[in-house]
Amino acid sequence: MKSYFITATDTGVGKTTITSTLAACLQKLGVNVGVMKPIATGIVQKTGFKSADVSILCHAAKVHDSEDEVNPIFLPLPVSPYDASKALNLKFDKKIIFEQFKKLQNKHDVMLVEGIGGILTPLSRDYFVADLIKEMGLETIIITRPTLGTLNHTMMTVNTCRDRKILIAGIIVNNYDENGGPAEKNAPSTIYEITGIPILGVLPFVRDYENITTMIPHVEKNIDLKSLIS
Ligand SMILES: Nc1ncnc2c1ncn2[C@@H]1O[C@H](COP(=O)(O)OP(=O)(O)OP(=O)(O)O)[C@@H](O)[C@H]1O
Ligand SMILES: [Mg+2]
Repeated sequence: MKSYFITATDTGVGKTTITSTLAACLQKLGVNVGVMKPIATGIVQKTGFKSADVSILCHAAKVHDSEDEVNPIFLPLPVSPYDASKALNLKFDKKIIFEQFKKLQNKHDVMLVEGIGGILTPLSRDYFVADLIKEMGLETIIITRPTLGTLNHTMMTVNTCRDRKILIAGIIVNNYDENGGPAEKNAPSTIYEITGIPILGVLPFVRDYENITTMIPHVEKNIDLKSLIS
C-alpha cells in the first residue's frame, strides 16, 4: 500500500481536515493507517499534544504512537519553521524526522504525512517542504482552494513538484461552495485541463463544520478511497 505526503497551496487550506478525515475513513475500511506531522509550529495546546493538528490527526486515525514519533519537531512560535528556528536559536535537524518516520512505517501499512504551510515553506534557509517530500520518497496529494487565485497557486505547486520529480497522486479541491462565483465553478476542470493531474475529489465547504465526523460522509462519497490504497 502507498503512503502519501499531504501538502497544500497555502496554510489553512484544509491539510489537517482532509488528512485526518482520510485517516478515519481508511481506518473504517480496516486499514492500519498511521499519521505524522513532521514539523509543527504555533502555540502550545493546553491539553493533548503540543500541536493541535497532531491531536486531531492521532484522534482521527485512532493511533497511540508517541508524540516524538508523530511530531518530532515542534517549535512554539506561530511562524514558519525557519523563522521559528532563527528566533529560538535552534538548528533544523531533519535526521530525527527520517528516524521517526521509519519507526512509524514499520508499525503501519499506510502513512499519511501532513506538511506545513505550502510546498515552498522554508524548514531551513535552503531546505523546503518540497525537499522533505522528495527525501521521504513519498507521493504527494495537493489540497487546493476553489476560489479566485487558485489556478496560479495550484500550478506553482504542481510545477515545484515536477521540478523536483515528486510524484503527484492527485489534487483535492476543498471548501467548494456550490453557490460560489464562476471562478469557483471552473476551478476543478481548469486545474485538470492544464495540469493533467487527476482531481481525486471536490469537497464542499461544510457550513456547520465542527469536527471530522461531518466531513467523513463527503470524503466517502467524493473520493475513491480504494484507489488510494491499491
Ligand atoms: N471543507 C471544509 N468546510 C468547512 N470548514 C473547513 C473545511 N476544510 C477545512 N475547514 C476549516 O478550515 C480551517 C483550516 O483547515 P485546516 O486546519 O485543515 O487547514 P491546514 O491546511 O491544515 O492549516 P495549517 O496550515 O495551519 O496546518 C479549520 O478551522 C477547518 O476546520
Ligand atoms: Mg494543519
